[in-house]
Amino acid sequence: MTLLRCDGSTNLHLCQPDEAALVDRLRAAAKPQISLVAVENDQIIGHIFFSPVSIEPELSGFFAMGLAPMAVLPERQNQGIGSMLVLDGLEECRRIGVDAVVLVGHATYYPRFGFVPAIQKGLTCEYPVPDDVFMVIELKPDALSGLHGLIKYCPEFNEE
Ligand SMILES: CC(C)(COP(=O)(O)OP(=O)(O)OC[C@H]1O[C@@H](n2cnc3c(N)ncnc32)[C@H](O)[C@@H]1OP(=O)(O)O)[C@@H](O)C(=O)NCCC(=O)NCCS
Repeated sequence: MTLLRCDGSTNLHLCQPDEAALVDRLRAAAKPQISLVAVENDQIIGHIFFSPVSIEPELSGFFAMGLAPMAVLPERQNQGIGSMLVLDGLEECRRIGVDAVVLVGHATYYPRFGFVPAIQKGLTCEYPVPDDVFMVIELKPDALSGLHGLIKYCPEFNEE
């Protein structure tokens, strides 16, 4: 199994149609973006995408990404592939200088990578989700220190 950077021609058969359409919209618009696929025997068995998020009130120099969407082929779940995608994706975020990564996701899965409820760091989500599923990880020490704000995802997330 190998992890590859995606290009625009990668066809994510494992996604639900809505999710694949979201990835297509994000690929066309999100800058910067991080798109990774896990490949085995020429088949894509997992993918992860990171796109920039903004904060309100606006804050110059704020550089955070949102982790979404992410999926592993059902028959290949619970074999460490999701973990590899998350860890490799976070490493790539660090490499390009991202301060923090947010996500809306399973409250029992992401804490193992260092994610904590974002509300603890003063961040709320534009979507009405429970506090424990909106999470953040700081990639630089104290990157979020003293921050308060509403996190907004790329507009492509709100399109049909
Ligand atoms: C969530 C998901 C990406 C995890 O990928 P994965 O390759 O199965 O995960 P890993 O093998 O790295 O990790 C396995 C661990 O994740 C846990 N896990 C898997 N799915 C989970 C879920 N839906 N909720 C909570 N924990 C989950 C397993 O219980 C296991 O825990 P353990 O290590 O304590 O035994 C994958 O299960 C998936 O694609 N699910 C459907 C789509 C989805 O939910 N996407 C994420 C949206 S936030």
